[in-house]
Amino acid sequence: MNKVFFALTCLVLIAVLSCQNKKTVTINQPDRKWWKEAVVYQIYPRSFKDANGDGIGDLKGIISKLDYIKSLGVTAVWLNPIYSSPNDDNGYDVSDYRNIMTDFGTMADFDELLKGLHARDIKLVMDLVVNHSSDEHDWFKQSRSSRTSPYREYYHWWNAERGTPPPRYSLFDVNHDAWRYDLLTKAYYLHYFSRKQPDLNWENPKVRKEVFDIMKFWCDKGIDGFRLDAFGFAAKDTTWPVYPKGYEKDFSKYYALQPHLHDYLKEMNQEVLSKYDVMSVAEGTGNTNEDAHNMVDADRHELGMAYPFEGVDIAKPEGYSVLHFKQVFSKWDNVFADKGWLSVFLANHDQSRLVSRYGNDKPAFRELSSKMLTTFILTMRGTPYYYNGDELGMTNAGFTDIKDYRDKATLTEYQHQINIKGDMKLFMKTTEFACRDNSRTPFQWDGTANSGFSTGNPWIKVNQNYTTINAAAQESDPNSILNYFRKAVKLRHDNLVLVYGKYTLLDSENPDTYAYTRELDGKKILVLLNFRDHAAAAKTGIDLSKAKLLISNYNQPSSDGSLKPYEASVFELQN
Ligand code: NOJ
Repeated sequence: MNKVFFALTCLVLIAVLSCQNKKTVTINQPDRKWWKEAVVYQIYPRSFKDANGDGIGDLKGIISKLDYIKSLGVTAVWLNPIYSSPNDDNGYDVSDYRNIMTDFGTMADFDELLKGLHARDIKLVMDLVVNHSSDEHDWFKQSRSSRTSPYREYYHWWNAERGTPPPRYSLFDVNHDAWRYDLLTKAYYLHYFSRKQPDLNWENPKVRKEVFDIMKFWCDKGIDGFRLDAFGFAAKDTTWPVYPKGYEKDFSKYYALQPHLHDYLKEMNQEVLSKYDVMSVAEGTGNTNEDAHNMVDADRHELGMAYPFEGVDIAKPEGYSVLHFKQVFSKWDNVFADKGWLSVFLANHDQSRLVSRYGNDKPAFRELSSKMLTTFILTMRGTPYYYNGDELGMTNAGFTDIKDYRDKATLTEYQHQINIKGDMKLFMKTTEFACRDNSRTPFQWDGTANSGFSTGNPWIKVNQNYTTINAAAQESDPNSILNYFRKAVKLRHDNLVLVYGKYTLLDSENPDTYAYTRELDGKKILVLLNFRDHAAAAKTGIDLSKAKLLISNYNQPSSDGSLKPYEASVFELQN
């Protein structure tokens, strides 16, 4: 009897203890998820590491750098598209969704990569490009072959006898015309991006089934998530209304989040996402906060995470307002304060370099401002995304000759400007600052030829500053940007408050500094950031005398809120 009583008491005790334990970690965090706690590292495969010397990064190259990736402390990798593709838009034009691009390797390489990542506790998120396919995909070849093809309705066609279709803006077309006439069947097909990227018809249930099957194929292989490329554009108003004059200046407003999108996402969730432990994030958030919220409200069973563009669109060649920056990030935090989840990022493969856009890439401030931006990204609520090379403070290459550019959007726009006799000087100046090729130059591994990226001739020029800015040089320097990034990632992993904690903006009207607190379960962290190349004071009213410094990009950080140029200091506050 005593034994039974003892055993029962033990069981009750264990239950109580485990509940308490759970309570301390789950309080105010109703649904913890691995992808909320992840730090995502985005790899642009074409430019990361070339293993076979053809000048193009590949999967074997990534495999050879797995220990480096692990050493960063990141817990998920997002890979830009690696599927078979004729590469009109660097893989965002897929010709076979179940195969690997020859430039990148084989399916066996992919399996090895996935295994290698998982062996290091790193998840793999794949890019899913299904607003459009390549015109070289078998579906499109069939669709284009005849008006009666069973694949005809896989895409959007407008038969020529109906006259010219109502104008639609294309991002990557030399005439900005999203309708392309196809002589064979005397009809126009729709392409919001390039002519080689025809838009799929999501109204067709067969298309949806094809896509869900593709997603299952990759999930069954064991991948951990999807980033849905341009998916906000997938649903279209197929009554094809004529948009008002000038609509193209704000085309997203007309293209994004058309009514059926939520239905498609719900179906995708039901058919695929709900069946696997995968993360899901769609590029762009639609037109309103409500749109964004609805996409990722867990109760609606659509996607897991929003990826709003507003923050990444702030930087301009002439600079940006810190007040505006704070307003935007505070607004987005607020949208998801109670429900839903967002991504936090300032760079990706479609933007130029983080430090050149949001920081200061002059030698005196490159390191400080890179570290400051890293501190920002890793201390906000939401899942942080970090783009490869930014952990070294890689800068814009700023090519001045159009021949050095490879980007589809830039090359077609260049031709467009010539055709309309545009201001070519202005075009080149804007391109130098903003072109996405700036972030696609080869990863700077070391100071050897081609920055250690390739023994061949790189597909795009290496940034000439690789002899000083490279991973090898930063490895051995404890104060390097790279090592600061590692520390900041660790800080986030060690402090759940940085993931889930409530965000409060302080000193909101300060035009130079950004100060905020994060709070969870009695723990309070203060983040002080100076976005300027001169000293500035953050007036938070918080007494720092008893605060514990957690990280700073200065050896002698602020002790009273007066911040040195680009200072970033993070404190734990005592209650
Ligand atoms: C968004 C991707 O991020 C970009 O790189 C691509 O060019 C377009 N979608 C078209 O797929």
